[in-house]
Amino acid sequence: MSVQYTPVIWNRNKMVYDAILLIAVALYLYIFIRVGPFYEDITRPIDGAILRMRAFGSCAFLMLTVILCIGPLARLDRRFLPLLYNRRHFGVMTAGIAAVHANYVLGWYFNFSPTESYVALLSSNTSYGQVIGFPFEAFGIAALLILFVLAATSHDFWLSFLGAPIWKALHMFIYAAYAFVVLHVALGALQGPSDPIFTGMVAASVVMVCGLHFASGRLEANREEGDATAKASLEEAGWVVAGEVDEIDDKCAKVVTLSEEERVAIFKYDGKLSAVTNVCAHQNGPLGEGKVLWGCITCPWHGYQYNLADGRAPAPFTEKIATYKLKLVGSTVLLDPNALPPGTYVEPVVIGGAA
Ligand code: HEM
Ligand code: FES
Repeated sequence: MSVQYTPVIWNRNKMVYDAILLIAVALYLYIFIRVGPFYEDITRPIDGAILRMRAFGSCAFLMLTVILCIGPLARLDRRFLPLLYNRRHFGVMTAGIAAVHANYVLGWYFNFSPTESYVALLSSNTSYGQVIGFPFEAFGIAALLILFVLAATSHDFWLSFLGAPIWKALHMFIYAAYAFVVLHVALGALQGPSDPIFTGMVAASVVMVCGLHFASGRLEANREEGDATAKASLEEAGWVVAGEVDEIDDKCAKVVTLSEEERVAIFKYDGKLSAVTNVCAHQNGPLGEGKVLWGCITCPWHGYQYNLADGRAPAPFTEKIATYKLKLVGSTVLLDPNALPPGTYVEPVVIGGAA
């Protein structure tokens, strides 16, 4: 297997996304470190290194919460889709912030120990059998390791190299990382003198992540039920299931056989679908084996061209071919098998638009 490495391709949207993210992170850290001390309990002053450790730890936790909320939010309301767009950069930045947090921990809590700080981190507390005083750092280490693996494999190269199913399964470990971080905090910071703001923040995060996943799961189940009913009623009305939209390559067609003599070519182009007869008006060439070139179906035999929506050859040519109606239910393409008179305009089906 060989997969070509293509460097990250930057565009304006990605830059704006990352700039907003960086500004938000910098603001959070600034407020936490500079403004936070004015509101702290003067009977329990906090050392600067601890403050920074907390600032970066809570920032990474908040970022992880937002990352996990983006998916269900985008499923519940399409207006959140732009947030999904560059979520991988968000994840990589979260791993970086979490690493700074861990670095402060090593440089402060474990730096005064006579043993090496990494050894001290792993060996200073081994009371795994108890809840109070549990070595919660272990959960932080587990979470950080997962975040690193996910950040290191976030590039498209790994998506192509591992294949989508394995890559997606690997990246589902983000939920394990979140669970580890919640345990890390619940058995660590929340066991100390109570800070209602921080406790509230952690509780709200868990409720939000679980609640949004539950709500989007319900919505998806309802949608699937609605799709199944819509599909069944269309099939009852004689429509034919033509396959899944992902089966069709861009600017190419899928050919559906309706009978011995009748084949239909369903083309995918510019995020839309259109169907025409598979038979070219010139010498019966197989249009479905052709491609969409310069916005037209182009016959593979002698290059005759037809508009996708109405099956008419562009002027000054006059050939016309039959068109067909399509519907998209969920991701399934359905075809009305009744050919329309050659040259009839049919509104293209928008992929991802209303069914
Ligand atoms: C090598 C990995 C890690 C180590 C050794 C570590 C260690 C620690 C330690 C010692 C504390 C102090 C607890 C206290 O003061 O009671 C702490 C707090 C915390 N950690 Fe970690 N941690 C690690 C990774 C992470 C990761 C990956 C996250 C989040 C993504 C995280 C989020 C937090 C948070 C939110 C707090 C509480 C901060 C506060 O008190 O305001 N930690 N961690
Ligand atoms: S058969 Fe299609 S161009 Fe000749």
